[in-house]
Amino acid sequence: MLEEIKALDKEYYMNTFGERLPVTFTHGEGMKLYADNGDVYYDFLGGIAVNALGHSHPKFCEALKNQVDKLLHTSSLYYIENQAKLAEKLVKSSCADKAFFCNSGAEANEGAFKLAKIYFYKKGIDKYEIISLDHSFHGRTLATVAATGQPHYQAPYKPLTPGFSQIKPNDFEAVKKAVTDKTAAIMVELIQGESGVHPMDIEYARNLRQFCTDNGILLIVDEVQTGMGRTGKLFAHELYGIEPDIFTCAKALGNGVPIGAVCAKAEVAKAFEPGDHGTTFGGNPLSTAAGLAVFSAIEEENLLENADEMGKIFRKKLNGLKSEFPDEILDVRGEGLLIGIELKSEIAKAVFNGLHNRKMLTSLCKGLTIRVAPPLNITENEIDLFIKAFKATLKEDI
Ligand SMILES: Cc1ncc(COP(=O)(O)O)c(C=O)c1O
Repeated sequence: MLEEIKALDKEYYMNTFGERLPVTFTHGEGMKLYADNGDVYYDFLGGIAVNALGHSHPKFCEALKNQVDKLLHTSSLYYIENQAKLAEKLVKSSCADKAFFCNSGAEANEGAFKLAKIYFYKKGIDKYEIISLDHSFHGRTLATVAATGQPHYQAPYKPLTPGFSQIKPNDFEAVKKAVTDKTAAIMVELIQGESGVHPMDIEYARNLRQFCTDNGILLIVDEVQTGMGRTGKLFAHELYGIEPDIFTCAKALGNGVPIGAVCAKAEVAKAFEPGDHGTTFGGNPLSTAAGLAVFSAIEEENLLENADEMGKIFRKKLNGLKSEFPDEILDVRGEGLLIGIELKSEIAKAVFNGLHNRKMLTSLCKGLTIRVAPPLNITENEIDLFIKAFKATLKEDI
């Protein structure tokens, strides 16, 4: 079956993903993914921080099936029960006062940019610039590419959407230098995911928050990857003890059903008035049923506590490996179950391949850092399987 799919993909699918890993999955259960040839993999990447509940989570599947049988879509012309209830959940469990649903992380960030701009526009203040950080990743639409601080993602799409600029992360002086009287917002990932799991310093994040408040600038936190319990808190900004004016989330919010959210303080959110923003699919009955089922599982199964506890155990065991292999493992970073294992550059690809051959799914960031973002209900036994495979890879393949 794999060869057939590869041939179809090659012939008909736009080649944006190049040569993919040679595997196709037919079904999953918990941490396990079953390939068409019968091989069983452990999903330590969780669909890139999406499958927070693992695969085929019984209650989640049941909630979706029930919703599919009842109603998929009605349009935003009418009131939508699940949409209203999921907005309530997000607001009551975060520092935000209002939420808006869309379909992806990039779209949530687009919504955040629009909200920041319209907030000042409606006040009659000429502020529209958005500052973000080097090495950040905010999505693939034109505005989010302009905000993504990685030149290789930007180069083919110049001229970029105007008004965006990037500065060095964790450098508060750089913030002060970059801000102008046109700066509307500063956007950060508190833990940069795609570039290899790089957390911001607490002091930097807090200074940033205070600076934005003092200077009438909005702070936007991109929680697309860090949100919904990934770091052991529902949102990473809780770890930092700061409250953004706007934050975005997506990925794990739907556990695989596409949904994103823009969340904001009341004062900012009220800038969006009828007609200012919209969406066809965003927050429809199906995707918001998924969001509600994710919230229920997080609460009923104590997944925040598990992510925190298992994250600590995971990093401890990885640091144990680092002591054993100090020349190979250079750093172990992250919070909760978003973890980066930085390797000596010459061996990183071989380690990634070795893990894959041992049926451990991860991603390799910037050719240097193995990123893991497993389901939040992972067990210590599953962590041990990964550690064993990692050790075998370092011993046998390197
Ligand atoms: C921090 C962050 N923001 C935004 C995005 C874009 O999300 P999406 O691919 O759903 O548009 C990603 C995706 O990896 C991300 O990690």
